[in-house]
Amino acid sequence: MATIFPQFRSLEGADTLYVIEGPRHVTEWQPMGAEKWMVHQHYASDYPRYQWVTELLACEGAATDLSSEEWEAHVHKRNVVSASTAPGRVPWPAEVGAWQRSAELGPLTTFGAEAKSERMAVVRTDADVRWALRSAPDQPLMVLGGGSNVLMHRDWTGRMLHMQVTGVQKLADDGDEIEVVVGAGESWHGWVMRSLDEGWNGLENLALIPGSVGASPMQNIGAYGVEVKDRFAWLEAIHRETGALERFDAERCAFGYRDSLFKQAEREQWVIVRVAFRLARTSPLQTKYGAIQSELAVRGWDQGTTHRQVAEAVMHIRRSKLPDPEVLGNAGSFFKNPVISQAAFEAVVAAHPDVVHYPAPNGQVKLAAGWLIDQAGWKGHRRATCGVHDRQALVLVNHGGATGAEIWALAQDIMQDVLAKYGVQLEPEVNQIGL
Ligand code: EPU
Repeated sequence: MATIFPQFRSLEGADTLYVIEGPRHVTEWQPMGAEKWMVHQHYASDYPRYQWVTELLACEGAATDLSSEEWEAHVHKRNVVSASTAPGRVPWPAEVGAWQRSAELGPLTTFGAEAKSERMAVVRTDADVRWALRSAPDQPLMVLGGGSNVLMHRDWTGRMLHMQVTGVQKLADDGDEIEVVVGAGESWHGWVMRSLDEGWNGLENLALIPGSVGASPMQNIGAYGVEVKDRFAWLEAIHRETGALERFDAERCAFGYRDSLFKQAEREQWVIVRVAFRLARTSPLQTKYGAIQSELAVRGWDQGTTHRQVAEAVMHIRRSKLPDPEVLGNAGSFFKNPVISQAAFEAVVAAHPDVVHYPAPNGQVKLAAGWLIDQAGWKGHRRATCGVHDRQALVLVNHGGATGAEIWALAQDIMQDVLAKYGVQLEPEVNQIGL
């Protein structure tokens, strides 16, 4: 029979508590005097620790089984929680168990459209996530990561989980390949840079993509010929209704172009808490994109190129084309590149022979939305508060004080115009909240 997680244990006498979150994952609550807990996260990445978790699960030795109610009663005996920030140890938030009311979301999203959330909680551990899922369960729930792919159309009247599960931990290393697990709340770019510093290569083409690690598999982020799925090992997510932690391999995630299970069949059912990657010191370079090749050549790096140099080239290209959200609010590509049938493509190409297109799976054709919008005359278009970026037509920008409704009105005008001129329906890539 499958084991149900989480399970709760205490150590007789010692008062230490454990939450077994999964077959290899334990949160340990260690008492410090009468007032404090020290919280440690353990991943059983080697056999001795795996054995230890197995014994805890089986209640061998001094471990006693607790119900979730008993566990909570014990936890509440001490209020103050501290934790070491050493790798693999996750700090416990002061905010746990309390909703922040009427929280401002503008500063937490890269578009910067003003909106508030009725309730918000910063979640730093699996236990925080479960607390937030159980608290006010009748309220709709939204998970906010780096806030780089959302447009808020109005205030959020439910619960918002601000995902801050952090930590980077190497699980396996055979001298070349490395498996590393990363907290969903880590910044994507920060993690890419850290991986390159360690010599764990493979994510260099994905440098400078805004957002969080937890959001990366949701829409299978990609750039310059590489997608997250190419380096993905597995992820763990907590079910929103049952609180169960489950592991998803790539197949279960059903990755597609800017797409996954978490945007389709199992949308809004899970909270992703950590993602594991399979990287390699000798990972092959992906430099076939023309823009990367010319950038490397300009710098004289086209011979014996390093992974770090590819990342530098990607960062330079992105900085030259894409607006910095710190300066100009935006959410990257606002639209997806449309994927259409061969028959539909033939109609487009007959009227517009120079349309930029790429082959897509199943005999379909992917068009460059940026090209369509640019050719339709929208690049650099400016309204009172928002507009279309002047160096990349796929990106809508907030010139200051734009509301979700104003940005959406612009997006709709663009979609209608592209449909009228090219017969192609664009779809937003950015999540529309409260539309
Ligand atoms: N193009 C134009 N005008 C424009 C923009 C693009 O004519 O204003 C043409 C380009 O000349 C090129 C084609 O459209 O021929 C494609 O442009 P580009 O290579 O810049 O890439 P993209 O399709 O516009 C996608 C991703 C980006 C990613 C780049 C690089 C999507 C929706 N966007 O953009 O991702 O950085 O490829 O690989 O797939 C993001 O998702 O936020 C993002 C920025």
